[in-house]
Amino acid sequence: MKDQKDYWENRILDWEGVSYGDAETQPVSLVERVAHYFRGPVRHRPAVAFELIRRAKPARVLELGCGSGRLAFDLVTRAGVAHVTGVDISESAIAFAGERARALGMAGQLNFVASSISNLNFDAYRPYDFVLGMGLTPYLTGMEFERLFDAMRGVSFLFDVHPKGISFQNFSHAVYRMLKGHPFYNTFSKEEILGRLTQAGFSNVTWNVSQGVFYVTNVG
Ligand SMILES: C[S@@+](CC[C@H](N)C(=O)[O-])C[C@H]1O[C@@H](n2cnc3c(N)ncnc32)[C@H](O)[C@@H]1O
Repeated sequence: MKDQKDYWENRILDWEGVSYGDAETQPVSLVERVAHYFRGPVRHRPAVAFELIRRAKPARVLELGCGSGRLAFDLVTRAGVAHVTGVDISESAIAFAGERARALGMAGQLNFVASSISNLNFDAYRPYDFVLGMGLTPYLTGMEFERLFDAMRGVSFLFDVHPKGISFQNFSHAVYRMLKGHPFYNTFSKEEILGRLTQAGFSNVTWNVSQGVFYVTNVG
């Protein structure tokens, strides 16, 4: 069985292409072509992040699981964020993001770090006033959740979760993961994730749903 790094290392750029691009015009497998049509919520996630970031107005964002930095670039160019540190377990995605930042003369505003959450030295990237993780929580170990929660203390945060439950969406996603050899995938009920956050000492956290995106935040 692959671990998360093996799984994502060379897959994330294609995954982004299929998820955000047009599956009709890309040379992708039938499985990915079908998966594209279930990724409406994935395509809606940036809009959710934008809305919350515009409300919270952070100067410096720490984005975990940033992939090739699509959202990080947009936050700087279109949402008025002064600086984003993007972190991802995939070295190839981070190399791609870093090269793009340099090519666009944005290396002062965008810093990309190849690391798992378990190995990240969070203190090296402070101060930040917003922690963002879209499409990340299904892939975190228990220890990585603890580290994520520690990183969120005293700042604004937003992360989405894949909801538990019996649904066609969850069934088809489980088949997709099996076909792809995916190592593990966390789903949560509202009670579970809010319970964990309460236990970790967070108050004023809300569970929200927007066009199939389930997310928790402390931004009011
Ligand atoms: C579903 S993709 C989401 C990418 C991007 N945030 C988006 O919404 O388009 C999940 C991302 O999390 C990264 N990832 C998975 N496990 C990770 C871990 N333990 N530490 C850091 N990044 C991780 C993967 O490499 C991948 O880029």
